[in-house]
Amino acid sequence: MDCKIVTIPGDGIGPEIVREACKVLDRVGEVYGHKFNYTEILMGGCSIDAYGVPLTEEALNTAKQSDAVLLGAVGGNVGNSRWYDVAPNLRPEAGLLAIRKGLNLFANIRPAYLYKELAEACPLKKEIIGDGFDMVIMRELTGGLYFGERHTEEVDGCLQATDTLTYNEKEIRRIAVKAFDIAMKRRKSVISVDKANVLDSSRLWRKVVEEVAKDYPEVTLSHMLVDNCAMQLVMNPGQFDVILTENMFGDILSDEASMITGSIGMLSSASLNETKFGLYEPSHGSAPDIAGKDIANPIATILSAAMMLRYSFDLDEEADAIEKAVQKVLTDGYRTADIMADGCKKVGTTEMGDLVAENIEK
Ligand code: NAI
Ligand code: MG
Repeated sequence: MDCKIVTIPGDGIGPEIVREACKVLDRVGEVYGHKFNYTEILMGGCSIDAYGVPLTEEALNTAKQSDAVLLGAVGGNVGNSRWYDVAPNLRPEAGLLAIRKGLNLFANIRPAYLYKELAEACPLKKEIIGDGFDMVIMRELTGGLYFGERHTEEVDGCLQATDTLTYNEKEIRRIAVKAFDIAMKRRKSVISVDKANVLDSSRLWRKVVEEVAKDYPEVTLSHMLVDNCAMQLVMNPGQFDVILTENMFGDILSDEASMITGSIGMLSSASLNETKFGLYEPSHGSAPDIAGKDIANPIATILSAAMMLRYSFDLDEEADAIEKAVQKVLTDGYRTADIMADGCKKVGTTEMGDLVAENIEK
């Protein structure tokens, strides 16, 4: 298979971690007979330095013409970089919003998986962790409260601010379809999270999700109220396979879920639209504090590349091979500084990438 990938190394540790992910992809290409063709574009601070804007039209068009985008991270030191004190649309992070919007990436997937080797870093008790957990959160990313009408006004001498939470059937249906499609590739369970006891938008959400479920008879659907879900995530995380939810609930629940895996350097993500196209990136930022030192953990980016193979190219076996290689390297006791523990072998960014690549097998 010939795959057209746009890479966006970005700022800080971005170039280091994207390089390692491409190294692993190239090894997958060798072992399985695929060709990954990369075109690099600039986004974030590096694009501001070169062109004065965080993402040029030309770069966005190049991304649009690819099959998938692999992104490192953008941004400088918060509060202390040459890109900080400027208008919002000229900040590095504006590039992220522009590419998400420009590519209509309405479906954000964040897996939360606990490696048993890293269980010590999990803040939950052993009896709660049980056999571990392996879930994905499917968050609606371009609708709801964050995109609704808003205004602030003075009413009877008192300031009043309004945000509106709106969803239409089409927006709910397309994210639900993504969630069920993903459940079909996993343990075939969807828990849809809403606040249908209070909100009209949640009642519509529930109705549309029920309709979509009829096309997926193999998938078990249940509903959970968001406040209960917040509790269940820390009381019994093993019960979740795919969590489907709207934008703001997903924002909060995905942060909660990521914390119980214990390590930001391990968490991948995908943002998808209605086509096979996707943007894949680690959940963390550009980590300027450790940039250029060869100590960043590249695993989140490597696992994001595995998601790319799974969701944009339907290369499930190859995605499994990457995940297994990461597992093997951890089992063998190799750790970057952020996940280092007693008795383990400390490695840098490049060596971690080498190790994962060496362990790719058919
Ligand atoms: P951050 O995620 O970059 O770093 C937080 C802490 O985690 C730091 O101590 C960092 O060293 C550590 N860390 C992050 N990734 C790591 C890795 N792979 N291996 C080892 N340690 C790692 O968040 P922070 O410091 O709040 O933001 C830094 C910059 O990144 C800001 O400009 C921010 O706007 C940007 N950012 C960009 C994102 C993106 O491009 N998608 C997402 C989040 C933040
Ligand atoms: Mg958030």
